[in-house]
Amino acid sequence: MKIEPFALERWMSGIETLVHYNISAGGMSPLSVHDLLALEPAEKREKLLNDLLHASLGYSEARGSLELRSAIAATYRNCGPENILVTTGAIEANFLIFNVLLEAGDGVITPYPSYQQLASVPRAIGCDVAYWNITPQTNFRYNLAELEQLVTPKTRLIVINTPHNPTGATLNAEELRHVYALAESVGAKVLSDEAYRWIALPDNGNAAPPIFDFGPAGISVGTLSKALGLPGLRIGWIAAPVELIQACWGMRDYISLCPSGLSDMLATLALSNRAKLMERNQAIIRQNLTIVQNWLEAQSAIFTWEPPQGGVLSLLRYQLDIPSLDLADKLAREFEVMGVPGAKFGFEHFLRLGLGQDPQNLAEGLARTSNCIRALREAGTPLLATE
Ligand SMILES: Cc1ncc(COP(=O)(O)O)c(C=O)c1O
Repeated sequence: MKIEPFALERWMSGIETLVHYNISAGGMSPLSVHDLLALEPAEKREKLLNDLLHASLGYSEARGSLELRSAIAATYRNCGPENILVTTGAIEANFLIFNVLLEAGDGVITPYPSYQQLASVPRAIGCDVAYWNITPQTNFRYNLAELEQLVTPKTRLIVINTPHNPTGATLNAEELRHVYALAESVGAKVLSDEAYRWIALPDNGNAAPPIFDFGPAGISVGTLSKALGLPGLRIGWIAAPVELIQACWGMRDYISLCPSGLSDMLATLALSNRAKLMERNQAIIRQNLTIVQNWLEAQSAIFTWEPPQGGVLSLLRYQLDIPSLDLADKLAREFEVMGVPGAKFGFEHFLRLGLGQDPQNLAEGLARTSNCIRALREAGTPLLATE
């Protein structure tokens, strides 16, 4: 397979050793093993630690342990462990699904902008990829009327990502039902990248159900990387009908074989403490919303913001005449700030803003961003003409 470079990952690996303050963090602030153990009652911790120290470093159960798959399955309706394949993050889950389901010439609909994998892998397979726009023209929201125009008898897969990276757009239960029905009407499937499932904004009501719950054409992809703040475990999964799980497992034999046993154990522990981790998230997101709102008030001449409908990500528009890649490079090299440039998602004059970061780190990153803007203005960078 020939595949185009993953633009955001390539850029990030060039600057990640320079930055200490992340205003664009893709998920919740990561936990340590110590943080995870501290979620358990004191009397259980010693045993858990002992179990971890004595865990075998041999190969582990290829699909993920029965305990972990059962814990994941319990988060879906009518789902058993046989419907779950544990993968190396959501990224491997998506890769397997695309490669098992698609062939050259198949029609695929995928959001634009998006986490690049969701367009680049189907394109590398030779699919005919159509974009469902989530752009300034749709106020960075999903527009179902536009999707209706894109579906054809050749469509094999509709890809959605809700809550959406990088805009924070979401699909509610009724909209998901509509997407599912559109896919079913042409015999297609829906792959829902639910990497941001469970991250709730304060006072945002009930989250939409995962697409698996809608029926056999629904394939859910999940991960512990974002809502549970555990990207280093590299634990994701597919929830799907058994035949698709078996086929993805068969392909995975050639790629990563099995999850790390230690990660499997820690993932099971994390899921059993999900409610506590969600409380932690709420406290972080609340603080960060206040930090961002106060900062935006002071920066209103330069920055404007469409808050996310869900998840922790959104795009921050700036009115300064400098390409987003140049701004992001300056932020990284001179101010130690990670600010993901909109250009990596196809949009100029935006930076991605993440609300999941440790609040002190985010506040310092935003203060440094203001210093960078001041330096640019003093050096003569003009404002953009307002539309
Ligand atoms: C939409 C989306 N899908 C998948 C992934 C990959 O996540 P994981 O760490 O679980 O592989 C990301 C990571 O940024 C993402 O934003």
